[in-house]
Formats: sequence, structure tokens, C-alpha cells
Amino acid sequence: MRVFVAGATGAIGARLVPQLIEHGHDVIGTYRSAGGGGRVEALGAEPVALDLLDARAVRQAVLEAKPDAIVHQATALAGVRFGRSLDRSFGPTNLLRTEGTDALLAAAREAGVQRFVAQSFASYRYARVGGPVKTEDDPLDPDPPAMASQTNAAMRHLEEAVTSAGGIALRYGGFYGAANDGLVPSVRKRQFPVIGAGGGISSFIHLDDAAAATVLALGHDGAGLYNIVDDEPAPMSEWLPALAAALGAKPPRHVPMWLARLIAGQGMVMMAAGSRGASNAKAKRELGWTLRYPSWREGFAAAYRS
Ligand SMILES: NC(=O)c1ccc[n+]([C@@H]2O[C@H](COP(=O)([O-])OP(=O)(O)OC[C@H]3O[C@@H](n4cnc5c(N)ncnc54)[C@H](OP(=O)(O)O)[C@@H]3O)[C@@H](O)[C@H]2O)c1
Repeated sequence: MRVFVAGATGAIGARLVPQLIEHGHDVIGTYRSAGGGGRVEALGAEPVALDLLDARAVRQAVLEAKPDAIVHQATALAGVRFGRSLDRSFGPTNLLRTEGTDALLAAAREAGVQRFVAQSFASYRYARVGGPVKTEDDPLDPDPPAMASQTNAAMRHLEEAVTSAGGIALRYGGFYGAANDGLVPSVRKRQFPVIGAGGGISSFIHLDDAAAATVLALGHDGAGLYNIVDDEPAPMSEWLPALAAALGAKPPRHVPMWLARLIAGQGMVMMAAGSRGASNAKAKRELGWTLRYPSWREGFAAAYRS
């Protein structure tokens, strides 16, 4: 297949392109920042400079590339500072998930592209009620904290637009597997504490396993949502000390809920303390996906071994 990867230079895009080529696909990879073209070429793909928020340019790039499939992996999270408002940090990414998705889908329709796979997110989205691990059939949080409402709405928009067009949205877990993973600097500096009893559950996924699931999704017929997470959703009280140990850092500090609320805000604490994990059973069953790193326990150790 000719596969058009929007966001080929990102954390997941750069792992995905080589795996697609290994599977015999031809890849057109888009980038936005200066110097991205060389990086896309080095990955073995044909580079195309593209701003996903320019719908005319998206249309032209897709019509010229004539792909059989499109993968939307564009986010704008590099170098973002996370404060009390998730919506502020995710603003540009939310546009890529709404306007960017719509532009790609419109171009795909016009170009007769048959397959469409897009990036979504699993963690912190399921309703904060009931058991600790959720499937794709479980409800999303109907009442996300105000500071994350636009971010949640953008992910819903992406998922609804993609699946109603016959495509697949992948709800990835928290990415890890690169030396510059987002959590690394703050965990090294002990600036990422265990909140309260650390009972909020997270799901992680190694970037190589996330890319492997994406390749399989491209070969899968039919629309759908899939959690792309590892086998071991885990409470913060377990994964955070293990991450610090894998990095050779001191153990994380512990802060009581009231102090965390003061520092990070009520919304962030509500999400972190109440979050549920996600089940990967559907992706394994329907996509035939197997994981190289079934748990973050071995994955963190492998990723950060010096
Ligand atoms: N599930 C998760 O946990 C998750 C999901 C996403 C990201 N992250 C983390 O966030 C950090 C940053 O992510 P990242 O390295 O992938 O960088 P990023 O800044 O999020 O960029 C991702 C891709 O989107 C492209 N892009 C950005 N703005 C665009 C636009 N307006 N139009 C078209 N393409 C655009 C980028 O191109 P350029 O490179 O040319 O700018 C890049 O190819 C990493 O640590 C990553 O692991 C985590």
C-alpha cells in the first residue's frame, strides 16, 4: 500500500514509518518544522512539508500523493509545558484533532482513500466509576474537569469523525520508549510526586508496540476504536517508583491530596487520582496484536537502560 503518514517526524510517526516499510509499504511522510524533510528521508519515506491546519494544502498533498491509506499521527506536544489547564497545553493539538482530522478526512474522501487510522488517547478518559480497567464499550467520562473539557471534546470529535467515515481510532496508552519521553525530566528531578495514596490507574504503551498495532490496524477491515495499551494497567503508587528506579533517579516524593490540589489544581488531581486503566483484549483479539513489552515493568527497564 501507499501510506500517507501525517506527523512522520513525531515520537510515534518516527517508529511507525520504518515498520511500515519493513512490511512492504511505500510511505509518504509529512513534517512541519524546518529540517523535518531530511529526517523523513532518513526514515526511508518520501517527505512532504504540510501544515494540517491548512485545509487546501492538505487536499493538494493527499491528491498528489494518491495514497491507499492515511495515518494521522500529528500532535503539537513537543516542548509543551503542563500547567493547571490541560486545555491550554493541548490547544494546538486539539486543533490538529478537530480541524486537522476534518481536512484529512475530506481529502481522503475526494482521493478515494480506503483506509484511515488516527491517533487518540486512552488514559484519563474513561468514566471515573466502577472497576479499575475499562474496555472500548465502557463510557467515557461524561463530566471531565473544566480545564480538560476542550481536550476531551477534541478527542471525541476525532473518534466520531474517523469511525463514522469507516476508519479506526487508536486509543494509545501513555507513550514511552525514547530517551526524551515527556515524563523523564520531571521524574529525574523528583518533580513528579505520588499523589495521595497513588491509586489512580494509568495504562502505558512502548512506542514500538504502539507502532506495531498501527501497522495491523491499517490492514484491518471495518471501523472501530481500539485501546492500544499494555497488559498491566497500574496505580501510580507502583509505576512511578518503578520509573524512577529505571531512570536511576531517587524515589518520587509523596504529596497529600490537599497539597497536590494547591499546586496542580483540582482538575488535574481529580483526573490523576480517579483515572482508570484500559484493556487491550479487543486489539489482541481483532487485530492479532502481540506485544514485545507486555508490561511497563520490563519496558521501562529496557527503554532507560544506560
Ligand atoms: N499517547 C501519548 O502518551 C502521547 C501522544 C502524543 C505525544 N506524546 C508525547 O509528547 C511528546 C512530544 O510528541 P512528539 O515528539 O510526537 O512531537 P509533536 O510536537 O507532538 O509532533 C508530532 C508530529 O506532528 C507534527 N505536527 C505538529 N504540528 C503540526 C501541524 N500543524 N501540521 C502538521 N503536522 C504537525 C510534527 O511535525 P514536526 O516534527 O515537523 O514539528 C510531528 O511529526 C513526546 O514525548 C511524545 O511521546 C505522548
